[in-house]
Amino acid sequence: MATRAPFLKTRFGGYHHRDVPAEDSELTHVGPDTPCGEYLRRFWQPLCFSDDLKDLPLRVRMFGEDLVAYRDRSGTVGLLELHCPHRGTSLEFGLVGDRGIRCCYHGWLFDCDGTILETPGEPADSTLKDRLCHGAYPVHEAFGLVFAYMGPPERKPPFPIYDSLIRPGYRVIPGRKYFYPCNWLQIQDNTMDPTHTAFLHTIVSGAVFTEEFGVLPELDYVETPVGMIYVATRRVGDHVWARMVEVVLPNLQQVAPIWENGRRERAFSGPMMSRWLVPMDDTSTMFIELRHVSEEEGETPAWWADRDIMLPGQVAMDSYEEGQRHPGDYEAQVSQRPIAVHGLEHLSETDRGVSMFRRQMRRGIRAVTAGKDPQGLGRENGAVVATYCNNTVMLMPAAATEGADKKMMRAAGMRLAKSYLKDPPLVNGHR
Ligand code: FES
Ligand SMILES: [Fe+2]
Repeated sequence: MATRAPFLKTRFGGYHHRDVPAEDSELTHVGPDTPCGEYLRRFWQPLCFSDDLKDLPLRVRMFGEDLVAYRDRSGTVGLLELHCPHRGTSLEFGLVGDRGIRCCYHGWLFDCDGTILETPGEPADSTLKDRLCHGAYPVHEAFGLVFAYMGPPERKPPFPIYDSLIRPGYRVIPGRKYFYPCNWLQIQDNTMDPTHTAFLHTIVSGAVFTEEFGVLPELDYVETPVGMIYVATRRVGDHVWARMVEVVLPNLQQVAPIWENGRRERAFSGPMMSRWLVPMDDTSTMFIELRHVSEEEGETPAWWADRDIMLPGQVAMDSYEEGQRHPGDYEAQVSQRPIAVHGLEHLSETDRGVSMFRRQMRRGIRAVTAGKDPQGLGRENGAVVATYCNNTVMLMPAAATEGADKKMMRAAGMRLAKSYLKDPPLVNGHR
């Protein structure tokens, strides 16, 4: 756990508040043999889009490990340690052939499971290649993404099929990747921080989303079998709009459509995006997104189905000054330090979701440390996993006073969330 800086009560007290406690390494460090790193490795993790793998190898960094991904001419995808086991040349300069990848330096040829198929410079009777293997990880392609399992081989779970990704009437398309020079946890913290939407995205930087997002919502947070959701309820005329955004443990976020304005009644609607926040190492993170596009005309805006167009506020502004004038998620999150220091934070009422998420993370990490499976890791082959992200808009005229109305909205939001938990709309095929 983090050590805490003192709660400063002195005016002009900077002198008494100069020490920066260490980061919470249990939650933030992701390298081999770290508690969080081992936890994250228990889940299938996306490393790139399928169409990133063309004729050349792709260098990737995951959880502090340097790796190379490639697709050979037979279509097989491999994920290997970056450096050749002969004398360390990077396989990103390798030759992708009919089968496997060949090191450019002395021609050793590797198969996707790390088998050394050829060592051409060695004597014909050399048995080195039969005795030695190169480091490799299993991969799985789905939904236009390439996933890897980097945990202990004997604990490999089946590949999870989230209901949102096979939703009737929708297709998922690969979206964008984004790279942030900061720790992954502060980015996932943000998923459970709906208050920032009203400030950062609406009040400070102008209405990036619909205007209705500018109203501070009533907020609740609910644990689900696979993670948690926030429930943000807002009044829009005679409607109550409940927005539920989701963390699927540990590092998938599902975001409800940002083009919702709450002006039309709407049943459970599912996410606009499923996005993994993949730690490359302790201080750099890749976002990799799938976009959900409705087959129904006009339901999903055309720009969202266009992969060249990105979500607003996700990358650094063009200049430092522009970032100061119109800060977005990038400026807010990267500037929390390379690894946000929890011992300097003063968590408040609006951080209940962040606290709940960190508690869930810690539970999962400690379960893995204790030799158990963490929450959210399914063991049933082919099972469809229920998830809970959605916008729902209900007809519900306002109560007599503002206070009573807020209470009513909050209760309605919680009722809805609980009904979805009991009877997940997507997994049961009725929405
Ligand atoms: S360094 Fe790769 S084959 Fe020699
Ligand atoms: Fe944001």
